[in-house]
Amino acid sequence: MHTIKLVVLAVVVLLGARHGAADMPSAAGMDEHTASMLRQHHSMLTTQAEWDKAKKAVKAGSTADAISPVMKMDFLAKDLDRFMLHKHPEKRPDFLKKAAAYKKLLNEFKRDGEIGDAIAIKKLIPGIDKACKGCHDAFR
Ligand code: HEC
Repeated sequence: MHTIKLVVLAVVVLLGARHGAADMPSAAGMDEHTASMLRQHHSMLTTQAEWDKAKKAVKAGSTADAISPVMKMDFLAKDLDRFMLHKHPEKRPDFLKKAAAYKKLLNEFKRDGEIGDAIAIKKLIPGIDKACKGCHDAFR
């Protein structure tokens, strides 16, 4: 009885080790999948940090300080089109549409920021929040 348990345990451990090895990036370079995962993870985390900065600036009444974070977001948004979709890869056209709508809002934000239209900027914030959420609900 004891021996059987040990054998089962050994097989489980061995299978686990093999599976782990298969998932490891090769020493020569990460596989395509791991690299794009890291890139999109980093891109989105930076987007989050910049968006927090932008909203904080607007809240504090310094619209001008919100422009530079949104410019960074806009730069990062260029990468969205190359995102590897894990959830609904078959719905890429919808994803691209959402990405385009998001980028349009960022451009409006930049334009209104440059002319110092604080009221327009404030109105855009919930729309951009919704664009993040709308895409995440479907694809994250
Ligand atoms: C057009 C789609 C789209 C838009 C717009 C979008 N995201 Fe994302 N986001 C994603 C996807 C897809 C993932 C999951 C990435 C993955 O699994 O590789 C993600 C993941 C994230 C994550 C988790 C990152 C991680 O890996 O831990 C954060 C944070 C995030 N997004 C913030 C934002 C913010 C803030 C906005 C808006 C200012 C935004 N995103 C707009 C598609 C989008």
